[in-house]
Amino acid sequence: MYICICNALTDRKLKDAIATSQSQCPEDVYAACGCRSKCGKCISLVTELLRDHGRSQEAAC
Ligand code: FES
Repeated sequence: MYICICNALTDRKLKDAIATSQSQCPEDVYAACGCRSKCGKCISLVTELLRDHGRSQEAAC
C-alpha cells in the first residue's frame, strides 16, 4: 500500500528503510529511501511506523 504518494513509497519500503537504518524521525526515513518529504501529508503515518518500531524520538529531529 502506498503511504507516500509524492515519493511513491509503500509501507513495505518504509518498514524496510526503518529496519535497516538508524532513522529516528520521518526525515531520516525519507533520506534512507533516497528522497525527502514534499507535501507532508504522509508524515503522521511515517511517524506511526517509527513508533511501531520503537524509534520515534521526534524531539531529536
Ligand atoms: S505524500 Fe509523502 S510527501 Fe506527499
